[in-house]
Amino acid sequence: MSDDMYVCPACGATYSLSSMAFRCRCGGLLDLAPFEPRFDPRSAGGERSIFRYVAAMPPFAGAERAWESARRRVTMGEGLTPTVPFDPADPELLVKVDYAMPTLSFKDRGAAVLVAAALAAGARMLIQDSSGNAGAAVAAYAARAGLGCDIYAPASTSPRKVAQIEAYGARAVLVPGSREDTAAAALDAAERGARDGSAFYASHVYNPLFYQGTKTYVYELYESLGGLPDTLYVPLGNGTLLLGAYYALKDLRSLGLIGSYPRLVAVQAERCAPVYRAYAAGRNAAEPVRNEGTEAEGIAIAAPLRGGQALTAVRELGGEVVTAPEAGLKPAKEAAAARGFYIETTSAACLAAYLERKARGVDDGRAALPLCGSGLKSA
Ligand SMILES: Cc1ncc(COP(=O)(O)O)c(C=O)c1O
Ligand SMILES: [Zn+2]
Repeated sequence: MSDDMYVCPACGATYSLSSMAFRCRCGGLLDLAPFEPRFDPRSAGGERSIFRYVAAMPPFAGAERAWESARRRVTMGEGLTPTVPFDPADPELLVKVDYAMPTLSFKDRGAAVLVAAALAAGARMLIQDSSGNAGAAVAAYAARAGLGCDIYAPASTSPRKVAQIEAYGARAVLVPGSREDTAAAALDAAERGARDGSAFYASHVYNPLFYQGTKTYVYELYESLGGLPDTLYVPLGNGTLLLGAYYALKDLRSLGLIGSYPRLVAVQAERCAPVYRAYAAGRNAAEPVRNEGTEAEGIAIAAPLRGGQALTAVRELGGEVVTAPEAGLKPAKEAAAARGFYIETTSAACLAAYLERKARGVDDGRAALPLCGSGLKSA
């Protein structure tokens, strides 16, 4: 199989990374064809950005020059975020300050790679849909790349996130109704754009290149700690960080850099937990649920398209899916602020889950969790 293709796991069809493909003709979601990651933590580039791990990303064979110049153009030095003890007096819990990013959330990891790939593929216009942070990230990198950008978002999106998207020069298309209505409107626009070659669907859900960016989260942990902690907490809405972590852990294992996997704990919101429900019931497919209303808006994905894939990934690594108690979100956010970290409520979910498990006597050993969105983001 070629080194750099999108592949449809359902029917085996392949598509070039230089195409505008975002979904298989059969309707299946695309993954990347397997390729050899190259990563040496002792010589991980001199680059001060996530692209220090570019050797672990697809080689873009046949389009290496376009990829190289595109990524050099779009990078804003994202990544290399601090990993520090949550509490200075307690070395057992580490937090990675992933809101210390150009657009104030971890989504910059995925957006930098995806927008660079779109630019290298010759896109002139990007379409994306998001409840906020991914939209802001794609809008910022589109501005940097000189690409037009339409971001579809629910009409209920926090005004601060809409203002940020528009500040980058993107058009915010506010769609009445649910998050799913927004996704349908964006998909429709993306299909029209793909047909006439005018638009690239820069979706963090459809396009698997996004996970080639988010996987740098785990590489950085590995590099800065000289190994991995016993337990890794990650949020799970659509699963962009979870799937990135999965690919990175597989890479590190296949490179012989880790002998076993850390315990991966994927965290959903108690009131919107389709993947948790499937996990707890031993099912393989994450059936859509009704969002019962949660303050953790960023992970409140009632019908995650890659929910089954996320579940398989967690099971393969021997990890688990848990829920963050709704009543624990606000206290966790306050506990973070009391230690100097101003995070958005969604970001408090992993901490709330960690604290709740600890109170029950679960021993995570040394654990790490991401602080993935800034408190300045939400109202
Ligand atoms: C702050 C924050 N944390 C976590 C997530 C969850 O990411 P995902 O939906 O990719 O699982 C999001 C998604 O928007 C987010 O904005
Ligand atoms: Zn297919």
